[in-house]
Amino acid sequence: MRSLINILDFSVEELYALMDTANDIIAHPEAYCERCKGKKLATLFFEPSTRTRLSFEAAMYELGGHVIGFSEAQSSSAAKGESVADTAKVISCYADIIAMRHPRDGAPYVAALNASIPVINAGDGGHNHPTQTLADLLTIYREKGRFENLTVGLCGDLKYGRTVHSLISALSRYAGVKFVLISPEELKLPSYVKKEVLAVQNIPYEQTDDLEAAMPALDILYMTRIQRERFPDPEEYERLKDSYILTPDKLKNAKPDLCILHPLPRVNEISVAVDKDPRACYFKQVANGKYMRMALILKLLEGMDEPEREVGEIAYDLKCENPRCIVQTEQELPQAFRCTNRERKIYRCVYCESKQILKGD
Ligand code: NCD
Repeated sequence: MRSLINILDFSVEELYALMDTANDIIAHPEAYCERCKGKKLATLFFEPSTRTRLSFEAAMYELGGHVIGFSEAQSSSAAKGESVADTAKVISCYADIIAMRHPRDGAPYVAALNASIPVINAGDGGHNHPTQTLADLLTIYREKGRFENLTVGLCGDLKYGRTVHSLISALSRYAGVKFVLISPEELKLPSYVKKEVLAVQNIPYEQTDDLEAAMPALDILYMTRIQRERFPDPEEYERLKDSYILTPDKLKNAKPDLCILHPLPRVNEISVAVDKDPRACYFKQVANGKYMRMALILKLLEGMDEPEREVGEIAYDLKCENPRCIVQTEQELPQAFRCTNRERKIYRCVYCESKQILKGD
C-alpha cells in the first residue's frame, strides 16, 4: 500500500502522471464525478487549515466520495491523550484514505506506519508539505511548460516554511534548476536541506537578503509567510514579520513572464495591488491544488504497492533532539536514525530528519 509522506515518495514519472490526470480532470470534470463513489476520505487536522483541508474535502466530493474528520485537535481524542498510531489504526476501520495535518514533525509518517489505508501528509510541523508541492508543480508546469532550466527564487521564512522544503526537494530532480534563497539571516534554509538536497546534487544556489537585487534573474518567485506559530521567541517574530512585502514597484525589474507563487495564507508578504498583475499565479495555484489532490486520491486508492527502496543502515541507539519531533510525545515510539553520510557518521531521525553525529566507532 502506498502513502504520500514526502514528495520524494513519488518518482518524477509518477508526478508527471499525476499532472496528466489533473489536467485531464480540468478538461473533463464530468468523467471523474463518480470515480470515488462509496469511498471515504478522513481529514485528520490537528492544526489549523483552511485551504488544504477544504481543498481535500472539495477534491473528494468532486470525485463523488464522502468526507469524515475533524479540523482541530481539541475536538479529537488527541485532546484525551490518544497517540497518533492508535488514531491511525482506529480511522483505518472507518475510512479508505487519510489526509493528516499535525503540528509535530513526522506525525503522518507514524500514522502511515500504523494505518492499513493510504495516508497523505497534509503538513507536518515545520517539516514537509508534499501536497502543497503538488499544487506548486502543476502551476509551474501549466505556466512555464517545463521544470528544467528555471531560476527559482524562494523568499521569506525558509527556515520554518515546510512548503519551501518540499518544493526544493521536488525541483532538485530537474536539470538546470537554480535556486535563489532570499531570507533574513535568522530564517535561512535549514542546513540539512542545503547539504543533503542541494550540495550533494551540485545544485547551484545563492543566499541573499535582497529581494529586489535578486528579482531580474528569476523565472519563479515563491513568496512565503513568516511562520509566527513556529517561533520559540515571539519578539523575534515581531522583528522579522514584515521582512518582505512584494509591491508592484518591486516588480519593475522582474521578467515579463515571471510566475509569482505563494502557498497562502498571505499575511502581508504580497501587496493586494500585485493581484492584478498577470504574473500573479497564487490563486490559480489554489485551484490547481484541488485538481492535484483529486489525482492523488485516485492514484492512492488504486491500491498500488510501495516500490522497493534501499533502507540503508539504521541506528536505534541515538536520541532525537528536535523538540518538535513526534518521537518526543508518541507513546513508546522507538528512536530510529538513517545513516546519510557514512564517512562523517551523520544520521538523520527517520521521523523528522534532524541530525545526529555518531560518536566513537
Ligand atoms: C501553508 C502551510 O500550511 O504550510 N499553507 C498551506 O497549506 N497552503 C503555508 C503557510 O501556512 O504559510
